[in-house]
Amino acid sequence: MTPAAALGRLADIPPGAFATAARRIMSRCDELARVSADDGQITRVYLSPEHARVNRLAAEWMREVGMTTRLDAAGNQLGVLPAADRDAPTLMLGSHLDTVIDAGRFDGILGVLMGIELARLLRVPGGDDGVWYSPFPFGIEVAAFSDEEGTRFGKALLGSSAVAGEWDEDWWQLADDDGITLREAYREFGLDPGRIGEAARTSEQLVGYLEAHIEQGPELDRRGESLAVVSSIASARRFQVVVEGEARHAGGTPYDMRRDALLGASEAALAVERICSGEHHIIGTVGQLEAFPGAVNVVPGEARFSLDLRGEFDGARDTVWERISHDLDDIMGRRRLRWRAREVHSAPAMFCDPLLQDVMRAGIGSTLPAHAEDPITLFSPAGHDGMAIGSVTPVGMLFLRNPDGISHHPDEAVSAADVATGLRAFAEAVAHRGAEVAA
Ligand code: GLV
Ligand code: MN
Ligand code: MN
Repeated sequence: MTPAAALGRLADIPPGAFATAARRIMSRCDELARVSADDGQITRVYLSPEHARVNRLAAEWMREVGMTTRLDAAGNQLGVLPAADRDAPTLMLGSHLDTVIDAGRFDGILGVLMGIELARLLRVPGGDDGVWYSPFPFGIEVAAFSDEEGTRFGKALLGSSAVAGEWDEDWWQLADDDGITLREAYREFGLDPGRIGEAARTSEQLVGYLEAHIEQGPELDRRGESLAVVSSIASARRFQVVVEGEARHAGGTPYDMRRDALLGASEAALAVERICSGEHHIIGTVGQLEAFPGAVNVVPGEARFSLDLRGEFDGARDTVWERISHDLDDIMGRRRLRWRAREVHSAPAMFCDPLLQDVMRAGIGSTLPAHAEDPITLFSPAGHDGMAIGSVTPVGMLFLRNPDGISHHPDEAVSAADVATGLRAFAEAVAHRGAEVAA
């Protein structure tokens, strides 16, 4: 195939096809939203029965567009539309199917379904054999990653880390709230922990990774724009912090004798807000806080809280963690408490590949001519599978407008019109990558 033929591939797609595909995506997001551990909520965690059900649905939809499917050793659902040369590498399009607790219906899911629809829009018939092919010098592979959020085991990006070949043997000991270890959960799901290495891909097998995702913030909505290219993804660290004081009678213990662990943890949460809000592109969140023994008439003797810390640059993020640790020493010292932190997740900042950013810019530029010269570029404070995949292949990302910027919440939204526009830009970007590889 010539570069011109790759770029010309979209000319054969009927104008209404993007809107039809967008409607199918919206209705499938609704269908996947019904697969949840809790009635009335969307909660789907790694290696759960719901994970198995959405994998089966995604595999069915991948096969419907002519892809060959497989479940990899980390529970990621993959589908490939091969190139005419079946040994050619693939361009991976993906995102995740797991969710936070009481989630929205688009975070991750949208990117997977857009990948499947792109395969449908771009595929070409192979002749009499009824087989569909990628028109480009690479296969089109869709990855439905199994764990991006880290909801169940605290450690995020487990699915994509396995694909990137970055598995840490210590992770097998991570346990969920019921004490089930990652190793046990693998076996229960029907996966063999001993084969995790088989999920790893090499850089020779891939020509890049492209992900479409809702923005999860208000920038595009505020600017009245539908699409943006992502420049980089924030670095992240997550900690579980334990504060120890002394449990005593709530009525009989005077204030000067109290060593209230919950008050120490509360002051720590305020310190996180004070320190992080003074820094550009550093965000700290205490999302979980528990007091023990948890009785109305007992001064809390222990408190546990989570800390999610993100930054545009690893160095600034780490300096902020040092400042937080220093403040925690002061707070706990003053309150005669002890504290310790266990780091459960760490991921460096990921800079999107300059060439794939250009490919996304070209895709947006051909779809939205008003932006041909200068498509919007945004930094992503939210984490994405590309953070892990970036260590094995170049990554490019496309953001779609998220009305009001609300995400990790049932009100999360995207419009069918923006999905249709995003699909067109994404397809153009894939065609541009095709032209580059063909050249
Ligand atoms: C994932 O959505 C994250 O940014 O935590
Ligand atoms: Mn998320
Ligand atoms: Mn996501």
